[in-house]
Amino acid sequence: HNADKGEFKHYMLKEIYEQPDAVARTLEMAIDNRQASALRDDFLARNEAQLSGVQHVQIIACGTSYHAGMVAKYWFESLMRLSCSVEVASEFRYRNPVVLDNSLVICISQSGETADTLSALREIKKQNPAGLVSLALCNVPTSTLVRETDIFLPTLAGPEIGVASTKAFTTQLVALMLLVLKTGAVQQRIDSANLSTLLGELQKLPGQLYASLHLDAPIKAMAEHFEDKKSCLFLGRGLQFPIALEGALKLKEISYIHAEGYAAGELKHGPLALVDKDMPIVVLAPKDSMLDKLKANMQEVHARHGELFVFASEDSHINAEERLHVVYVKAVCETLAPIVYSVPIQLLSYHVAVMRGTDVDQPRNLAKSVTVE
Ligand code: G6P
Repeated sequence: HNADKGEFKHYMLKEIYEQPDAVARTLEMAIDNRQASALRDDFLARNEAQLSGVQHVQIIACGTSYHAGMVAKYWFESLMRLSCSVEVASEFRYRNPVVLDNSLVICISQSGETADTLSALREIKKQNPAGLVSLALCNVPTSTLVRETDIFLPTLAGPEIGVASTKAFTTQLVALMLLVLKTGAVQQRIDSANLSTLLGELQKLPGQLYASLHLDAPIKAMAEHFEDKKSCLFLGRGLQFPIALEGALKLKEISYIHAEGYAAGELKHGPLALVDKDMPIVVLAPKDSMLDKLKANMQEVHARHGELFVFASEDSHINAEERLHVVYVKAVCETLAPIVYSVPIQLLSYHVAVMRGTDVDQPRNLAKSVTVE
């Protein structure tokens, strides 16, 4: 590979540490440092007419990119009141789905070569609904996906070599937020005060990601509790639900420990039956509108002798006690918290995998880019 691992033991770790820079680069596409209260004039400037006609968003992706899409759904609907559906490409392509007129179809793919995602896009183009606009959110400008879509929104993550996606994911989230803001501005569905607040918060992200990287030592200590475990649960609510899914995906793909991500409110409908002292439960707990509900879910688990490993906001009032371990994350704005909380789950999975001696960058049976069905 032309990319060098440098001082890092694995590409994955190097790529985790590149996130502040990668996110800063992606932000610069749309935000002018000197004028943080508005988007840059040249950001998606040629696509304003297309974006202004959008009445529904359909997101299609696979794997980690699908989880980025799930976060974007929350953003499109809650910030913009624009309806948004998100689906894994391997299902979408075969179920003869309804694509609404005036849909913006967003295909999210690091590689731009994932067979299922490309096929789903081609399926939609064949249906040819009125007012269709297709957009590739992609890390590879020369990819098939970019060639076959109307709009190209790049992630400027740089080459990602570790099979487990890290910096591609966080830059996808940033680019999706920029797209939400641009579409919201064009359609006047986001007022200028909201827009400038979010732009200000976005500019803090590189610094906040650095701060999350400083949690490496306590997260490594936490990872020791997972080394000999068979199964693990990740919990989150709202914007953190997709991050819980992503945490479980990261852990299973590189450490080979069975892991499931769950919306914490669904615990009582099944996974609570699994809880015992041998199944660690990871919880994503930023200070947001769901925190009190989440604490109640944590209590349900704790009362059943589950051992909790919590990434909590420093102002969450969650305190360590028996069978409750806490790593504190700096306070961040609720809307962008999923980006910041991605880092701790990446580091946790990484350290568990290293302790178990697996091939972190090239996990068994998996490929970086799945170009066949
Ligand atoms: C593979 C990779 C994942 C990735 C998924 C989708 O499974 O191992 O890391 O999330 O494909 O890839 P894409 O390039 O379409 O984002």
